[in-house]
Order: sequence, then C-alpha cells, then structure tokens
Amino acid sequence: MKVTIVGAGAVGAACAENIAKKNVCSDLILLDIKEGLSEGKAQDIMQTAYLNGFNTRITGVTNNFQATAHSDIVVVTSGIPRKPGMTREELIGTNAGIVKGVCLNILKESPNAIFIIVSNPMDTMAYLALHETKLPKNRIIGMGGQLDSSRFKYQISQRLQCNPRDLNAIVIGGHGDTTMIPLLRLATWNSIPVTQFLSAEQQTQIINDTMVGGATLTKLLGTSAWAAPGAAVSTLVEAIALDTKSLIPCCVSLNGEFGQKDICLGVPVVLGRNGWDKIVEIPLSNDEATAFKKSADAVRNMNEVLQTVVK
Ligand code: 2OP
Repeated sequence: MKVTIVGAGAVGAACAENIAKKNVCSDLILLDIKEGLSEGKAQDIMQTAYLNGFNTRITGVTNNFQATAHSDIVVVTSGIPRKPGMTREELIGTNAGIVKGVCLNILKESPNAIFIIVSNPMDTMAYLALHETKLPKNRIIGMGGQLDSSRFKYQISQRLQCNPRDLNAIVIGGHGDTTMIPLLRLATWNSIPVTQFLSAEQQTQIINDTMVGGATLTKLLGTSAWAAPGAAVSTLVEAIALDTKSLIPCCVSLNGEFGQKDICLGVPVVLGRNGWDKIVEIPLSNDEATAFKKSADAVRNMNEVLQTVVK
C-alpha cells in the first residue's frame, strides 16, 4: 500500500504522522512545492518511527510527481489555509487552480488512486476533483464529516463529562461554518439518546460550537487547525487500506440521495478498498431536511464560482 500526501504544511504533516502511526501502508510520499519542506517534515516524522513504533517509510519530495507513481491513496491538502476571520469559502480563488493542477499531475502517475480531498472549501474542491479527473465517483472522497463529527463528539463529551469514544454522533451536510448539520437528535451515549441529558440551551450550544469548531481554532491558532484534521484523514486511509467497511460521514457525489444531484456533500458512506461503496440514507426530520437543502444550495452556489476561477 502506497499513500501520497500532497502539501507538507501543518495539515499534510499531521496526516503523514497519523497515517504512519496506523501502520497501514509501507510507503508514504510527502510532496510539496517548497524546497526542503517535505524532506524536513518527512525526516522529522521518520525519527519518531522507533519511538512511536511504526514501519511506514516516509519520503519527502519537492514537486517530484514521478515519485508518487502507483499510489493507492492520495491525500490532497494543497493550497492556503484560512486566517482568523476568514471563511473556508474565501479560499476558493487561490485553491481551486492549485487543487486542479495537483489532481491532474497525480492522475498521470497514479490512474488507479483513490483521492481524499482536504483542501478548502472542501465540498467544492471535491466536486472540482471529480470533474477534472473524471474518475469513478467512488474514488473521490472529501474529508470533512469525520472531522466535524469528532468535534461534535468533543462538544457533547464536554457537557456530559463522558468519554468521547462512548458517543455515536455524526455531522452531515457541507464542511462550512454555516453549512454543516450536527445531527444531535440521533446522537447517543452508548445507545442512550444524549438529548435526554441536555437542556435545550445546551443542545443549541453544542450545535453552534460544533459548526464553528474550525473557525474557533483558527482564531486561537492564527491559522487552520491540523491535529484533528490529520487524525480524521488517517481514519479514512485506514478504512480504505484495510477494507474495513466502516460507516463514516464523507463528502461524496450525490445522485438523488438525500434529494440532491450534481453535488458533493457530506453523508454517511461505507468505506473500503474501492473507496466509498454506498451511501446510507437517514430519514431526516423536516428541520434537518430543510437544513440539508439549504446546505446544498450554499455549496452549489460555491461550485458555480468554479467556472470563473478555474481555467
Ligand atoms: C478544519 O476545519 C482544516 O477545514 C479544516 O480545521
């Protein structure tokens, strides 16, 4: 199993470290355009191999796409991260061209790869990757739902004072401050609905804090978060590499599911060796269905911007 990560910034490096710790691939290529950056990050992480007990060989390369040849999975983190006060959507003008170029360069070397898109605005970048590569839709996966769901579980665990691992809770919809939909109604604490333990005010707070989870960290850190994004990507890579058939919310191309078409949006999917196998539809309440439609409308508006920014 060979994995490539494009972009050796904080998110790309966190992806590399977390994937290596999972011990699910023999080779991992970390590629960046900045001379020395990926080589340095690769060496630094490799020097933890003994300490963290992993066998993955991480190689850093500068702009050398040939080194990525025959990758099974490619994680695209390229582009600029947001700064405090920015929305993910504001990155589209810069990131769309970068993500397009990267996807096409990767495709030449690894025509059979499964793509995991992390660059923002992620839902639109996944849509762009699908259209530019023309790959089967099951091989394009946007990473957002798993990260947002982990942030959702963190928020619930803080209020319940419980172990996040005992929680089952997902976020669907877009990966944006106003487009994500934390499904609190369906969240459970080891099968007990969490809503039983939370006041209406706490419930609203959990949903709001989850939705601005990334923005809150960007404000604190001065740049986009990396630890949770990297860990979230590694769970997707693990599910694909080990063909675990895990049910994970991911951004995928919809063809009528959840009432939407011609869009990539976050929904629960079964992940395995071929990418995403199937979408699991959830009967949504009226409010949730309205929120999903609103989320799709916002992402679709953003997708339309692609025509003006991508040549
Ligand atoms: C985040 O939410 C990187 O979009 C990512 O932190």
